[in-house]
Amino acid sequence: MENIERIPTHVAIIMDGNGRWAKALGKERYEGHIEGVDSVRECIKAARRNGVKYLTLYAFSTENWGRPAEEVNALMELFCKSVIAETPQLVEQGVRVVMIGRRDRFSERVCSHLEQIERETADGKHLTLVLAFDYSSRDEITTAVKALATKVAAGEIAVEDISEQSVSQSLYTADIPDPDFIIRTSGECRLSNFLLWQASYAEMYFPTTMWPDFKQEQFDQALEVYASRERRYGKL
Ligand code: FPP
Repeated sequence: MENIERIPTHVAIIMDGNGRWAKALGKERYEGHIEGVDSVRECIKAARRNGVKYLTLYAFSTENWGRPAEEVNALMELFCKSVIAETPQLVEQGVRVVMIGRRDRFSERVCSHLEQIERETADGKHLTLVLAFDYSSRDEITTAVKALATKVAAGEIAVEDISEQSVSQSLYTADIPDPDFIIRTSGECRLSNFLLWQASYAEMYFPTTMWPDFKQEQFDQALEVYASRERRYGKL
């Protein structure tokens, strides 16, 4: 089956290499994250320009809580600052922002900023930006299994009603199509607990570019790589 959809509907990115980028330039890790926000901005523009409909960014994994408190706090501060600063441009560009991940471990302040950006961008029609914050795929799947088991126990559904579709609909990504293309920057070739269920048929791409150097040009090049792939979905 020839892939005729040359532009992926959904691109998901593991933004990796901020720390190494900074270190290589003799800078603090935090400076890598700051430049990383510029890459986020650039990739949103490139995604929108190319007609990508969903862009998911792995911004903070459940495992990231294990970093030194100073770096975790700096990242939270950066998210809040970026969210406030970027919201008007996102609204102007027709970008709708939705969050996936746990919501119960952020401070009230961070939660209120996340809710604010979702609320203020809710009418965006051109691109859905999915931010994975305190996200882990195994945690997501476990939560979905618990939700379905609870419904069975309450007699709301039968075991036979559990299907691939009902599992998908119980994930944080319920109304979001599966990613067509997953990019991880910095040369690491792992999914690291990111969209494990949703990635079943995704094409993968692992450029060696560090995230702070991944700008519009690199995003466009990645789309060329995607366009050259042939997707068979298990068929001949
Ligand atoms: C991975 O690089 C990057 C992160 C853990 C944070 C990514 C966050 C941003 C780029 C800011 C995003 C902001 C918004 C508003 C979405 P690393 O620190 O693991 O790099 P290393 O592997 O080289 O140490």
